[in-house]
Amino acid sequence: MKILTLHGINLNMFGKRDPKHYGTATLADIDASVQALGKELGAEVECYQTNCEGEMAARIHQAYLDGIDAIIINAGAWTHYSYGIRDALAIHTAPIIEVHMSNVHAREEFRHYSVFGQLAKGQICGFGVESYLLGLRAAVAAVQEAKKG
Ligand code: DQA
Repeated sequence: MKILTLHGINLNMFGKRDPKHYGTATLADIDASVQALGKELGAEVECYQTNCEGEMAARIHQAYLDGIDAIIINAGAWTHYSYGIRDALAIHTAPIIEVHMSNVHAREEFRHYSVFGQLAKGQICGFGVESYLLGLRAAVAAVQEAKKG
């Protein structure tokens, strides 16, 4: 089972951003935790980050061509307005799990809406690094379920 974890704009700065919202883990720490759990769950997890919207769309297209089993995405601020990333994700039939470190609903109003909401199998927010790990567990379960039926 192959799962792609995508991190969008500004997420390479985790560890330096407001710890009240994002804790102190770096992106490398997050990726290491996600990959370690992937091993435990029998999933091969690739992690990718970019600050360039076009590069993110191209990576999402490639994942479709590669037949990825599931996508976990924290698109950062793109979540709230990028129809380009949304349309790239819409090409997929594989499950998409949206994650956020912070509880976006307890923050500014512009963070309450996700343009990916309709496409996502589910959304997880507010648990810091654990949001990614819960997202990975949900992704693995969704893939296993799809393979059964
Ligand atoms: C975020 C929440 C977004 O609103 C914000 O723009 C981010 C990070 C999160 O992980 O909590 O950059 O996606």
